[in-house]
Amino acid sequence: MNAPATGPDRIEELLTATKTAFASGALVRLKLGGYHGADPELKGVEVKKITVKDGDKFSFTYRYKTRDIIKNFIQPEALALLRAGLKDEFSSAQLATTGFDMVFERNGLKIRLKRKDVEGREAPSTDHNRAKNRPLNGSDKPWLKALGIAGKDGVVRNDAQDKFRQINKMVEIFAPLIQAIQTPQPLIVDMGAGKGYLDFALYDYQVNVAKRAVGIVGVELREPLVADGNANAMASGFEGLSFQAGTIMDFDATGADAVIALHACDTATDDAIFKGIRAGAALIAVAPCCHKQIRRQMEAGKLHDTLMPMLRHGIFLERQAEMVTDTLRALLLELHGYRTKVFEFVSDAHTPKNNLIVAEKDGRVGRDRGAILGQIADIKAMFGIEQHYLEGLLDS
Ligand SMILES: C[S@@+](CC[C@H](N)C(=O)[O-])C[C@H]1O[C@@H](n2cnc3c(N)ncnc32)[C@H](O)[C@@H]1O
Repeated sequence: MNAPATGPDRIEELLTATKTAFASGALVRLKLGGYHGADPELKGVEVKKITVKDGDKFSFTYRYKTRDIIKNFIQPEALALLRAGLKDEFSSAQLATTGFDMVFERNGLKIRLKRKDVEGREAPSTDHNRAKNRPLNGSDKPWLKALGIAGKDGVVRNDAQDKFRQINKMVEIFAPLIQAIQTPQPLIVDMGAGKGYLDFALYDYQVNVAKRAVGIVGVELREPLVADGNANAMASGFEGLSFQAGTIMDFDATGADAVIALHACDTATDDAIFKGIRAGAALIAVAPCCHKQIRRQMEAGKLHDTLMPMLRHGIFLERQAEMVTDTLRALLLELHGYRTKVFEFVSDAHTPKNNLIVAEKDGRVGRDRGAILGQIADIKAMFGIEQHYLEGLLDS
């Protein structure tokens, strides 16, 4: 039987795991908490890996009550600091890696270290210089602070780096699509806008970086989010950005040049597509969320016999429902004169609902109408579908 691990062994075990994760690129972060050392202002420390000109470093963010201080260390220095800190000054630590988490707790001489495996977590980028190439920089933007992405000092918080990266990725995807819209001052409508992350980022980018005037309206059911969004837009001086409370279907989208909906729930995505088609928007872009409407019909309807062995498994039915729903959406968009493409817009480590349907009006309304209608009918027959919700809207 192994001898029980002593306190110092537990500290070394955590440090070895940190060192190994650092070397293999699996380190997400190490957080030290429960500080009871000599500095009355220090709240905690967060450690990450960064890659700078002269190699890989351990980057320590010292979180003080009113500011953060970042210091970078080579490995021997970093491990010595961590060893001393874990022994005397911090009573807790959480190590996050791409494959497992470790939680360290010290109560006097008693130390506990627990390990739990995790799946599907991505390692953050360690490239210190990459931030400089992003469409939006993170310095001192009131909207980033209001949305909790930047701290009081205006700097993007370490624990919001992922979210900020995703926002920049969205801007990278949408900027050329909006650029392609011919209208001098395009009106973009974001259906099911939530807190409006995308809207603030797109507006900031268009007006302050691309130097193109745009109007953006976020439509959202939840009134408190709408009130916060409008206050935040005003505080940011974003005159052309506003939020409107209500349902997608009740919103008058006449004059919209682009209609966007990211993770609007189930058939709310169809409402957004419908509004975009009816408005004749040049661009319709949706990231669908749940696919219950078609899934229910596939469960209740008469599937083609060949599909039965495959779709009796819930997980395959779920994935197939997603593909069928979005294929029919793409075909219905094509039927109404849109060129469509579907691609992953963020890594599936962030969300499994990571497909974006992008539809651009190409002026050739009704192209191959008969062929498209035939394809829609065949797919519906194969999967036992009576009607796609979007079809019903478009037929009404
Ligand atoms: C999952 S959130 C996504 C928010 C935002 N688009 C984002 O990606 O961060 C979906 C939002 O859509 C809103 N929503 C759902 N159905 C809606 C409808 N029919 N009309 C207006 N808003 C709706 C919800 O209140 C929620 O805030």
